[in-house]
Amino acid sequence: MTRPGLVGASSSISIGAVTEPVVVILAAGTGTRMRSRTPKLLHSICGRAMVAWPVAAAVAAGASKIVVVDAPGEPLRAHLDDDVTVVTQQQSLGTADALKAAGEHFGSGSVVVLYGDVPLIRPQSIVSLVQAHAQADGAATVLTAVLDDPSGYGRVVRDEQGDVLKVVETKQPGDATAAELEIREVNTGIYVFNAATLGSALNQIGNQNVQGEYYLTDVLAILRADGHGVGAFRLEDTLEMFNVNDRRALAAATAIAQRRINDAHMLAGATLIDPAATVIDADVSLGEDVTIEPGSALHGHTTVGDGSTIGPHSTLYDATVGANSRVIHSYVTHVTIADEVNVGPFSYLRPGTEMHDGSKAGAFVEIKNSEVGERSKVPHLSYIGDATIGEDTNLGASTITGNYDGYDKHRTEIGARVHTSVDTTLIAPVTLGDDAYTGAGSVITDDVPEGALGIARSRQTNIEGYAAKARLKHTAGEPGQALGESGESDHAGAG
Ligand code: UD1
Ligand code: CA
Repeated sequence: MTRPGLVGASSSISIGAVTEPVVVILAAGTGTRMRSRTPKLLHSICGRAMVAWPVAAAVAAGASKIVVVDAPGEPLRAHLDDDVTVVTQQQSLGTADALKAAGEHFGSGSVVVLYGDVPLIRPQSIVSLVQAHAQADGAATVLTAVLDDPSGYGRVVRDEQGDVLKVVETKQPGDATAAELEIREVNTGIYVFNAATLGSALNQIGNQNVQGEYYLTDVLAILRADGHGVGAFRLEDTLEMFNVNDRRALAAATAIAQRRINDAHMLAGATLIDPAATVIDADVSLGEDVTIEPGSALHGHTTVGDGSTIGPHSTLYDATVGANSRVIHSYVTHVTIADEVNVGPFSYLRPGTEMHDGSKAGAFVEIKNSEVGERSKVPHLSYIGDATIGEDTNLGASTITGNYDGYDKHRTEIGARVHTSVDTTLIAPVTLGDDAYTGAGSVITDDVPEGALGIARSRQTNIEGYAAKARLKHTAGEPGQALGESGESDHAGAG
């Protein structure tokens, strides 16, 4: 049994007595620092669009509703589950303006705000924040973190009693004072608000700042000025607030996420020989006692069953691998591999390939859209396309299907217990019956009946004394030069 992907859509964490919040994910920013034609939040982290990470965290934290604030044209929608509500921010005017776009969904309880570019937040931290907010009785609670290097983040300014006064931005010179820049407690971009007071506070935010943007962070000072309490809750693991603004940060976030995924698989009973040299996407599932050798990459919705070994140096995309199979030094995409199958070294298995129990694809073998029956083997140097192979069949080295005539693809049907000899070319459409054989070097254009030998090559002719005749011809008129020179005898034309 394989377990489902270990990150994200796992079982939800109970918020307990606290009402389940509406979660709004701000994701409409322009992301200019990525320097990309792709929206920032569609860049992938371990096989998932960045925006899907906070969404998965919100689901696992037990959100009653999830609202994603998208840019005009809604580029993110196609990458979100149907039960996620998408609203549009018409213009990228700042984080406060973005949250306003979700205003009709605030409800009457609490509203958690996540930033789409803070993808590593854990569900448990959201739950703890909501619980801290419920106990504090304020109008807002901001999730903060203390960083050794707080540069680039908004700073949390507190009064003498330690209450939160405001958050100041530090993006541009003039945003913050020199004293404020000394503060190491930063805004993670994650908050919980009481829905009842949020709307009117948002309406009071202006854009009189260096950037000319509506800063959501200003809402905290406004709530205080209106006489409401504002709390702060400290995040323990500062890696969770990692903010992705450029591609260096994307790589760093991917490394953090990858470490989490690999750790979870190891704790769940998989052996990763070198976790630092192992790529496993978020939605991959591994069974018990799976071994992943170094240099391997498991992508998409790949699943690997109990006791199987992947690698070294294998790449799998959306592959299903059963139990006790091996995939060594191979590239496998959209393929089903059953139990006790051997793949590689150096196999290329392409979409639609089904390897049945106990079958084998060996060295320098490419298989596409084909079924390889139980215990059947394609051991060396073959191309098999659009073929069905029965049980206990063995294809000799360099068995090749000619499946494409330049216009259409045609199928090759190979029965059970068939033995093709080396260098068999099967010109499709063609059928080899059960227990059929082919002769070495045959080009099989017609069906081979059950139990028959199909042989299709010209007969061999031996020309006696050929070498002596060739030598004589070559050395005629040039005595003394002949010995030791093989000359240009035309072997190819001689047979
Ligand atoms: C923001 C915070 C800062 C905090 C940091 C933490 C503000 C004003 N500043 O800064 O205090 O330390 O995050 O990561 O909130 N977005 C929209 N629409 C917009 C602008 C932004 O949806 O008009 C979205 C972005 O897609 C992004 C998020 O809001 O997911 C944050 O925006 P960004 O411009 O990256 O804010 P930071 O400068 O990082
Ligand atoms: Ca940001």
